[in-house]
Amino acid sequence: MKKKIITMLMAATMVSACLTACGGREGAAESAPAQAVEESAPAAPAADAADAAEPAAEETADAEASAGEGFEDGATIGVSLPWLGTQNWKEAETMFKEQLEAAGYNPIVQAADQKVPQQQQQIESMIENGAKVIVVGPVDGTQLGAVLEQAKDAGIYVIGYDRLLENTTGVDGVVQFGSVKTGELQAQALLEGLAKVKGEGPYNIELFGGGPADPNAPNFFNGAMSVLQPKIDDGTLVVVSGQTDFTQCATVDWDNSKAQARMDSLLSGFYSDKDIHGVLSPNDGIARAIITSCENAGQQIPVVSGLDAENESVEWVWSGRQYSTVAKPTDALVAETIDIINSLKEGKGMPSTDVTVDNGVKDVAIYELPPVVVTKENAKEVFANDPGRMELLK
Ligand code: BGC
Repeated sequence: MKKKIITMLMAATMVSACLTACGGREGAAESAPAQAVEESAPAAPAADAADAAEPAAEETADAEASAGEGFEDGATIGVSLPWLGTQNWKEAETMFKEQLEAAGYNPIVQAADQKVPQQQQQIESMIENGAKVIVVGPVDGTQLGAVLEQAKDAGIYVIGYDRLLENTTGVDGVVQFGSVKTGELQAQALLEGLAKVKGEGPYNIELFGGGPADPNAPNFFNGAMSVLQPKIDDGTLVVVSGQTDFTQCATVDWDNSKAQARMDSLLSGFYSDKDIHGVLSPNDGIARAIITSCENAGQQIPVVSGLDAENESVEWVWSGRQYSTVAKPTDALVAETIDIINSLKEGKGMPSTDVTVDNGVKDVAIYELPPVVVTKENAKEVFANDPGRMELLK
C-alpha cells in the first residue's frame, strides 16, 4: 500500500486543560477533528493501482467540480492574514500586494490582529467587494466555517494559506509547508544540538508549543513528540517540569511575552539547582524569548529550536545563540498560491495534488512544500539564493 497515513489524535485530556489554557479557539477544541494526512505516491506500480486510483479519482472529481469559467484581468483577489506578528506574515502581506498587482489582479490584503470576529468581517467585505478568490491564513482554523461557506455559495474560490481551514466545506485547497514534518525537524535538530553542544546525556529539557487556535501548532508539537517521546521514555531526555501535554506547553496567540513568562517560571520553579540543556521551541520569536529568559536567569544558553528563519534568529544561529531554525520561505508559498490563482483565472480549476487532509468534514487538497532545517553548519547552503539572509551571515 503506497499510502502513508499519519493520524494525529488530539488527546482527550486537551479538552479540560484547553478551557483554561487555550483561549482563542472558543471551545472548538472539543470538536476538533482527528487529522489524517494521506500522502499517496504519485506513480503507483500496477499491483497497487486499485489502491492508488482511489485518491486520484477523488482529486479529479474535485478538480472538475471546481473548474469554472475563469475570470477577467483585474479581478479582485482577497487575502486575509491572521496577524502581522511574525516576519513570515509581514513578508506575505508585502509579497501578495506586489505580486498580485504585478500579475494584473486587484488585491485586497488585510490582517486580523489575532481576532476571529475581525477576520470574519474582513472576509465578508471581500465577498461584498466581488472577490473571485479569497486566500485565508486563519486566526483560528475552526472559526471561519460559516463565512467561508458563504464565499463558496457566492462562487468564490477559497484557498487556505499556511494553515488548515478546519470543519468547513468552504475550502478548495490549502498551500502550506509540511506541518508535522516541521515538528520532526525541530526535534531532530534539538537532539543533534544536545549531543554536539552539551556533551553526554541525560539532558534536562522543556517543551513549548505555539498558539492553540492555530491548526499548525498541535501538528508541529505532535511531529516533534514523535521524535522526542522515545528519548524521554529511555531516559535520554528529562522534562524536569513534567509538562509534556500540548495544552500545558502551548503559547496562547503565539505571544512571545507569554512564552518568556512561562520560561521564567519554569526556571525559578524547577531549575534553581539544575542546568537546562535544551528547549523545544515552535518558532523563532518564542525561541528568542526562551533564550533571553535563560540568559536573565544566569543559565548557560540551552540548545533551542525555531521556525521561520526570521532575520534576527538567522543572526542568532550564525552567532551560536540559537541552535537551529527551520526555513519555510514565504516567497515560495506565495508563488505557489499565485500559480493556483492563475490556474483558476484561466478556467483550469484547482491543480491536482497527491496530498489530502481530512479537515473534519472533507478531504482537502494540500499543496505541500518541504520545510528545511537550518543550523550554523548549513546556513550558507540553505540561503544561497536569498541575498537578504546571506547578508546576515557575516
Ligand atoms: C506559521 C509560523 C508562524 C506562526 C506564528 C504559524 O502558523 O506557520 O510560520 O511563526 O504561525 O505566526
